[in-house]
Amino acid sequence: MVVEDIFPKLCAKPTVFKNTEILRKGHHPCSLQEVLHRDGVIIQYSTFLKDAMFGIVPDNILIYGTFGVGKTMLTKLITSELVHAVNQAGRKIIVIYIYCGTMNALSPIMRYINQTLFESIPNLTKKVMGGSNAKNFEYFFELVNQSDVPIVIIFDEIDKLKDPNVINEFSRIKECGFTKNNVCVIGITNDTNFYTNLDGRTKSVIGQHELFIKPYNAEELAGILEARAKVAFVDGALDRVVIPICSAFGAQDNGDARLALDLLRVAGELADERGNSIIEEIDARTAKNRIELNRQLEVVGSLPTQTKAVLFASVYKYEQVGANVEATDVYTAYSQICKIINLDPVTQRRVNDYLGELNVLGILSVNKISRGRKRGVYNAVKPLVGVYPVEDIILRDFRFEGLKNVMLKSNVPDFEL
Ligand SMILES: Nc1ncnc2c1ncn2[C@@H]1O[C@H](COP(=O)(O)OP(=O)(O)OP(=O)(O)O)[C@@H](O)[C@H]1O
Ligand SMILES: [Mg+2]
Repeated sequence: MVVEDIFPKLCAKPTVFKNTEILRKGHHPCSLQEVLHRDGVIIQYSTFLKDAMFGIVPDNILIYGTFGVGKTMLTKLITSELVHAVNQAGRKIIVIYIYCGTMNALSPIMRYINQTLFESIPNLTKKVMGGSNAKNFEYFFELVNQSDVPIVIIFDEIDKLKDPNVINEFSRIKECGFTKNNVCVIGITNDTNFYTNLDGRTKSVIGQHELFIKPYNAEELAGILEARAKVAFVDGALDRVVIPICSAFGAQDNGDARLALDLLRVAGELADERGNSIIEEIDARTAKNRIELNRQLEVVGSLPTQTKAVLFASVYKYEQVGANVEATDVYTAYSQICKIINLDPVTQRRVNDYLGELNVLGILSVNKISRGRKRGVYNAVKPLVGVYPVEDIILRDFRFEGLKNVMLKSNVPDFEL
């Protein structure tokens, strides 16, 4: 039997990895010394925070830059270095990190901040948890008043906050006369419109210092990958073309170190899947395709129901015809799908808009094609992503349950698409 002694067998399988942890998502260097190509930024960022060494609350900072350029990593490493240095100097500081991607509403944020402050400030007796936001803020002001050390609150992916203007309340407290102390707010964002969309007051509060983190170029990415590859892979397991390929892809994609590191990890996994002891060019290129496909499928999964129905109609028709599909045929299939899943159909014109949106997302191509002289033009639709994975993702949506049942009944469903 294949499954007999499955764990020992799996563990005995040869692998190119000697340490998988270092290439995992979310893994950061352990210290600032290991961070490459960011000396200038580290000095500037640390200078903004240095007042905390003398017990003074630093000014607020807004950190911005595109995906995977090291904003989170630098913030975590620099603030933990700051805590260490402040403690070494016999002082104290409180740093609170909030990831707004998962904690984006005011009340859990307040509860978390208050809980952390309560645990960090000695000799407190009164504890208020829960209740209205007003009550929570009142308690927050009280806690800040009782703390005689600088408090730094980091809002990572601050653009995901339900109301980013609430940061005003955190950082303006001294000005408003609520407490004798102030709080330093560090906001981190990769949304270039975030700052522009804030109201004027909040802008001036959060933007006391701004720090732009620029994308990496291919050479810098190669350096970052090389350092991690040394720890991650067995000696001699990496063909010399792999790092240049992964770093070139990362540089093309907004200088994203996370993508370059993901490519390297997936390339290693692909070499293992092939049972090859060396990670080769083909693994790096396949890794790119796999990551791109996963990204596109993530987009498909998050589309609104109407768009999913239009997309399903397009890929299903394409699968049947095996060639470009006319937008009018997509509409017929879409109308059938709406009946099956009880969705109110929209007009052909609106469906054309959805096709346009899917075109922009790179999921479908929509081109005007001539039928020949005097016979006009039509919109030709063609999927740019694998038909089966797209169908599979859409059918996982519970709203498409009815369609899934019909599709399962037979290979050629009993409805005319
Ligand atoms: N200079 C560097 N040296 C070593 N590793 C780095 C460097 N820059 C980035 N990384 C690594 O790249 C990955 C992405 O970095 P990070 O998560 O800090 O990006 P980010 O700017 O916060 O991106 P996002 O806006 O998507 O959250 C992390 O694994 C990080 O450790
Ligand atoms: Mg980040």
